[in-house]
Amino acid sequence: MEGKFSAFEREELCNFIKTTNRFTNGPLVKKFEENWSSWVGAENSVMVNSGASGNLITSAILKQANGIGEVIVPAIGWSTDISSLIQLGLKPVFVDVNIENFSMNEIALEEAITPDTIGVVLIHTLGFNGLSDKIIELCKKNNLFLIEDCCEAHGAKFRDQRVGSFGDLSVFSFYYGHHITTIEGGMVCSKSAQFNELAKMFRSHGMVREAEENTQETFKAEFPDLNPLFTFAVPGFNLRSTEINAFLGLQQLSKIDSIIDIRTNNLIFWLESLDSSLYFTEFNLEGSSNFALPLLLREGDKKLFSKITECLKKNKVEFRIGTAGGGNLAKQPFVLENSHRVSGELINANKIHTFGLYIGNHENVTPSQIKLISEVLNDL
Ligand SMILES: Cc1ncc(COP(=O)(O)O)c(C=O)c1O
Repeated sequence: MEGKFSAFEREELCNFIKTTNRFTNGPLVKKFEENWSSWVGAENSVMVNSGASGNLITSAILKQANGIGEVIVPAIGWSTDISSLIQLGLKPVFVDVNIENFSMNEIALEEAITPDTIGVVLIHTLGFNGLSDKIIELCKKNNLFLIEDCCEAHGAKFRDQRVGSFGDLSVFSFYYGHHITTIEGGMVCSKSAQFNELAKMFRSHGMVREAEENTQETFKAEFPDLNPLFTFAVPGFNLRSTEINAFLGLQQLSKIDSIIDIRTNNLIFWLESLDSSLYFTEFNLEGSSNFALPLLLREGDKKLFSKITECLKKNKVEFRIGTAGGGNLAKQPFVLENSHRVSGELINANKIHTFGLYIGNHENVTPSQIKLISEVLNDL
């Protein structure tokens, strides 16, 4: 099995390394950013060295734009959506998710909004579209900053438009197990030139030289005693990508559509093959671009769930209990130790936490493998 990189692609990578003299953040990063923007349908993209780095940048821009306040997050997702807020002094407010897409519930979101709310982090979990008209309307009506985390949802669509193009900002991950990979890597997309400029500065130490010419001129005029090359406008990080990762990204982008087709067909076949009296199968597939194959017990049966995990272990099938982030994030030590709020009951998140898991999906996973696993699980 070739994994994510074919022999030819590995050869091309070696040739690139042998011949280039530019290894960090350069023309290939820029080209990948441009191509990514046009594929997603986003105005701007800034490549970073991971999805978690993307989370850090979007949270930093949210704080820069709206100051300190509460940010509504789903209880099912990923740690760095929450930890980036905590690190920047913002307060996560956890709400429940839907069973049919494992993503933020719109009624729970509405109930969690207070005068202190400044933003929403919407996670498109497992490649399901997590957006709805109501969520977009709630953000608009309450003047809330919308961040879409699309790290598990490259190519997922809402109303026939790719996710990541709706929010004020969005984040993608190119970690190894994702739809496409740069080994480590990520992307921050934004709608406005101002946020794009901020993303570039936060990515690169906070440096003004990353900004547009007119911004650089403004800082030069306001801070005449500072060296323009070393003027730091925002409290930045170094989250830049190398050219090597961008080289891989460009290669991978050329096959993303066929990868998504295979993954999505795998999900459909998986749900058709599972015994729907034992397992929940009525997921919302509209616009889905599958990340991993979900398994959720229809009834909360602890005995059956441990039989399933034992069986998967015995057969060397990798799985993650509670989905990618380990289930209900509001239970995690780093959350309990820091300022946060839980709004409403996390009924579905707890169900997924205790009776849900996922099995990996990949363009090399075949229908016969899916059939075999589902038959074994149905027999339990
Ligand atoms: C929803 C979500 N956000 C953020 C990340 C972080 O991405 P990375 O592993 O590239 O740092 C992940 C990782 O899988 C994720 O699933």
